[in-house]
Amino acid sequence: MCKFSNPLTIFRVLNANQLSMADQSLSDKYNELTRKNTEALLGGGEKRIEQQHAKGKLSARERVLLLLDEGSFEELGKFVMHRSKDFGLDKEHYLGDGVVTGYGTICGRLVYVFSQDFTVFGGSLSETHAEKIVKVMDLAMKNGVPVIGLNDSGGARIQEGVVSLGGYADIFYRNVMASGVVPQISAIMGPCAGGAVYSPAMTDFIFMVENTSFMFVTGPNVVKTVTHENVTAEELGGASTHSTKSGVTHFACANEVECLNQIKQLFSYIPQNCEDDAPRLPYIAKDEKRPALNTIIPENPNQPYDMREVINGILDENSFFEVHKNFAENIVVGFARLAGRSIGIVGNQPASLAGVLDIDSSVKAARFVRFCDSFNIPLLVLEDVPGFLPGTDQEWNAIITNGAKLLYAFSEATVPRVTVITRKAYGGAYDVMNSKHIGADMNYAWPTAEIAVMGAKGAAEIIFKKEISEAADKEAKLAEKVEEYTQKFTNPYRAAFRGYIDEVIFPDQTREKLIRAFQMLENKVAVLPKKKHGNIPL
Ligand code: HXC
Repeated sequence: MCKFSNPLTIFRVLNANQLSMADQSLSDKYNELTRKNTEALLGGGEKRIEQQHAKGKLSARERVLLLLDEGSFEELGKFVMHRSKDFGLDKEHYLGDGVVTGYGTICGRLVYVFSQDFTVFGGSLSETHAEKIVKVMDLAMKNGVPVIGLNDSGGARIQEGVVSLGGYADIFYRNVMASGVVPQISAIMGPCAGGAVYSPAMTDFIFMVENTSFMFVTGPNVVKTVTHENVTAEELGGASTHSTKSGVTHFACANEVECLNQIKQLFSYIPQNCEDDAPRLPYIAKDEKRPALNTIIPENPNQPYDMREVINGILDENSFFEVHKNFAENIVVGFARLAGRSIGIVGNQPASLAGVLDIDSSVKAARFVRFCDSFNIPLLVLEDVPGFLPGTDQEWNAIITNGAKLLYAFSEATVPRVTVITRKAYGGAYDVMNSKHIGADMNYAWPTAEIAVMGAKGAAEIIFKKEISEAADKEAKLAEKVEEYTQKFTNPYRAAFRGYIDEVIFPDQTREKLIRAFQMLENKVAVLPKKKHGNIPL
């Protein structure tokens, strides 16, 4: 008996045959993608990755994966390749062209990243490498999301000439356009030169890794040729140089893992963009009195103490994250939380140079104030300052212009601003350190505050010069006049009588007062006069 196949079955068989043929070509296609994906993962090749590891460095991809939440990374432009033909480049191609770019999350919050791959032409920046960075920067701007750049690059790709210079300029321009719109964070994770240091210089924070990362406009060899100086890469542009001498870097980290962890920590204090607020931790109110604060100020007004003790005493436990720790140590800046809310702290540091304001400390604090103001982070100033540092070194290097930067930065800041004077507030530094007169919202003083034009001895020597010189006992006269000046001005009450100080408070009340003050200022609206932009004394 003839068996008729069910036409449907035949159809199915045919279809299955066709499918198996398609399967074959499909699987070829899938294999090709798998092969390309695998190739892209290797950057400049296994040997070069091993060399990277041998230097104590991670690969570009390992860094991204450690930085972002597990499984959150989405890569963009994995198969991009350069288009150069000169100097043999037409024979050397690497998928991704030396930079891993994309987006992912840190503690659930979106971030764009680029990570330069030193195993591909020393991480140098080609036209296409630049296009990949530009793409994530543009996405970050459109979507109001921070950008983190992990830099490990010899700068512009020398074989490409002006095309790579153009690529850097495209990035620089976006760094500037993004400034104040979305936070930009840079980590230096290898030897970085030329454009690879100028782009980070225009971002908000720079992290460096000790011993394996360097930043210089030109390396030691060029320095030797041009200036005949013999200098090592570490001396010229290592993490220790830039965290202590130049102040170019804000953080010097012991190794790459610590560096990536610190970036995550910083990220927890800052918002996604200029219209957002920083993440807030839940906080349950309890007894906010802090008796330990009552004994921090020494009896002797010239004896130092550590302002970090005051900071740690006032802010939420273990919440202080110091920025620029080893540079201009006479001022302390950083983020902390008060009742769970992110706050920017600026404190004079009596334990270093008596907390005097000089060029470096003014610039350090001014830049921090401007970051906080750009990104809606309220400011708390803790003041104990004997004035600006006198002398030829400071004058010749423009303490006038540089000190004015801090004055300008505070005056222009529209975020909630609160000051607590713990001890000295002398001279121009009283005005500069977030005084009521330049727009602070709440000004407190401890009973130990001394608000005067200068210290009592200096003041007495000037205003009673004649009386003292004519006295039979000059020493006794000076002591009498110092005491007179001290009685009149070495306290907070003259300023409080005039309302320059809103309240004189006991130190142990400070935390409670500040929690209330910042809550009261939560919806502050301050509008600056209409202008294109100001002209900060640069
Ligand atoms: C192309 C580069 C490169 C570059 C390094 N390489 N820098 N290729 N363009 N800019 C390649 C090397 O040829 C080498 O390739 C590999 O990367 C590793 O480099 P090494 O020199 O072996 O490594 P190391 O000894 O660690 O020294 C790293 C370095 C040094 C300090 C970055 O390579 C260097 O000085 N590079 C040049 C820096 C520079 O002058 N860049 C231009 C800046 S101008 P192989 O095949 O051997 O592995 C600039 C303009 C921007 O950026 C505008 C600024 C305002």
